[in-house]
Amino acid sequence: MNDPKPALTARPVISSTGLFTPAESITNEELVESFNRFVDRHNAANAEQIEAGKVEPLAHSSVEFIEKASGIRARHVMAKGPILDPEIMAPRWDERGDDELSIMAEIGVAAAREALERAGRDPKDVDAVLCAASNMQRPYPAMAIEIQQALGIDGFGFDMNVACSSATFGIQTAADYVRAGNAKSVLVVSPEITSGHLNWRDRDSHFIFGDVATAVLVEDEAIAPAAHWDILGTRLKTVFSNNIRNNFGFLNRAHPETADTPDKLFVQEGRKVFKEVVPMVAAMILEEAERLGVDPQALRRLWLHQANAGMNRLIAHKVLGHEASEDESPTVLDTYGNTSSAGSIIAFHLHSEDMVAGDTGLICSFGAGYSAGTVFVRKAS
Ligand code: COA
Repeated sequence: MNDPKPALTARPVISSTGLFTPAESITNEELVESFNRFVDRHNAANAEQIEAGKVEPLAHSSVEFIEKASGIRARHVMAKGPILDPEIMAPRWDERGDDELSIMAEIGVAAAREALERAGRDPKDVDAVLCAASNMQRPYPAMAIEIQQALGIDGFGFDMNVACSSATFGIQTAADYVRAGNAKSVLVVSPEITSGHLNWRDRDSHFIFGDVATAVLVEDEAIAPAAHWDILGTRLKTVFSNNIRNNFGFLNRAHPETADTPDKLFVQEGRKVFKEVVPMVAAMILEEAERLGVDPQALRRLWLHQANAGMNRLIAHKVLGHEASEDESPTVLDTYGNTSSAGSIIAFHLHSEDMVAGDTGLICSFGAGYSAGTVFVRKAS
């Protein structure tokens, strides 16, 4: 595109979304059975040390705890067998060559294709690809550029990581490009292969994450399909916290003795996160609703980040002023687990078809950083 006189009045909208769901899924029963086998083996192998008080025994996990504490019942993954193998407990697949599409780009492309099809958009009319996710498969070339190339898109792409809020930060970035006249059509792709950063041997968190990819097509209203979503406003917030942390990085090799310690995977103080993030996000939503002149109690639906059913219940209650029904605040974490930045987009993708023109809703993410993002949307037709 590259219009020499950018409009600056262009109105960004969401034209469509896309979703890729891995075929394989792990139930809590399967997960706990495999985890407990690992625990029994570990305790048997260390029996003498445990007896001598030199090694702490590991404790079993429980399906009842997981469902009560989180609301998660199952999660999709890219490689079920090795994750459930107590000898491995990590994803495994054949390494791909540099001339093959990488696995992260592959699932991103699948989600993006669906978004493009649903909007009736030819890839050659897309201007930019943002790969917005909590982990990148490699530093460069950017995943976004690989996705761009695979889809046959001209223009530019780059990666951005804001952990669980990557997708909403991506949507605001794309909306700003459209407003500024720098792009008319931007794909925000969130391939989240979280099974790679989850410590499947950690009882506190082994049940949390699942794999998925989503895509959101943000466009200038002037070219968008009639059945789009107006973006009423976006708001982003970050507040530093050590309560969710992952110390994996390229400088790990500077201290090889700790290169494989558990802090190089996802770790969190879940209870602190719960307590601190709920009021922060509820206040942010209410402030933004006021700024936009939207009555929060009249919101037709909340598509909230999918980390914990209890957190969503509390946030939705504070926003709507009453206990939210499943229709008002749909859950996908029961079958998807926490899919990091993709969670609220999956909820939006799966639970928005029934909304009618004029209905107003909220896409909202929150998580590591801390980071949080709101996208208020209204169905156009
Ligand atoms: N099976 C059985 N018991 C377990 C267990 C498991 N897998 N994991 C922990 N427990 C035990 C703990 O040892 C603890 O026992 P204790 O009371 O005897 O000390 C008890 O259950 C409570 O543990 P706690 O970690 O306080 O649980 P919780 O109620 O806070 O639930 C989370 C844990 C992670 C589900 C919850 O805190 C949460 O979802 N927080 C928000 C996380 C979030 O949004 N993160 C963003 C990530 S992107």
